[in-house]
Amino acid sequence: MEDKKAYTEAASDSDTQDNSRRNFLKQSTLLTAIALTPGTAVKAAELRVDEKIASAFEKMPLKMEVNGVTHSLSVEPRATLLDILREQLDLTGTKKGCDHGQCGACTVHLDGQRINSCLTLGIMTSGKKVTTIEGLAKGEELHPMQEAF
Ligand code: FES
Repeated sequence: MEDKKAYTEAASDSDTQDNSRRNFLKQSTLLTAIALTPGTAVKAAELRVDEKIASAFEKMPLKMEVNGVTHSLSVEPRATLLDILREQLDLTGTKKGCDHGQCGACTVHLDGQRINSCLTLGIMTSGKKVTTIEGLAKGEELHPMQEAF
């Protein structure tokens, strides 16, 4: 009889331990899920922000005439005319001085008007005529401005 009682108590202890283990697993699974959820939500939000940033810098088509030659380019909307001239068209005669519209080293003509190319977005020049220092020469004859340099 005592053996049966001892067995019953041992079985009862075993059930209690099983319940305890199950509860522990349930709780730890729940806590893990809670801990991971904000991380994935943050990741998803970051991806959405990255997509918005990428679309803001997505290149746009630009067609303009520079020194009598028509160019079809693909430029970032934030790119200045100065950077497009120097980096995409290799027209390095237009200089980057202050990059703040104060020195005039980046001056070009846009449809005959003098502008600071460092303050002009490239996409604003779509369909317009740009003349740089390289475009002032008439054949082999240098423009007085080119001679001055
Ligand atoms: Fe100085 Fe444009 S770089 S005015």
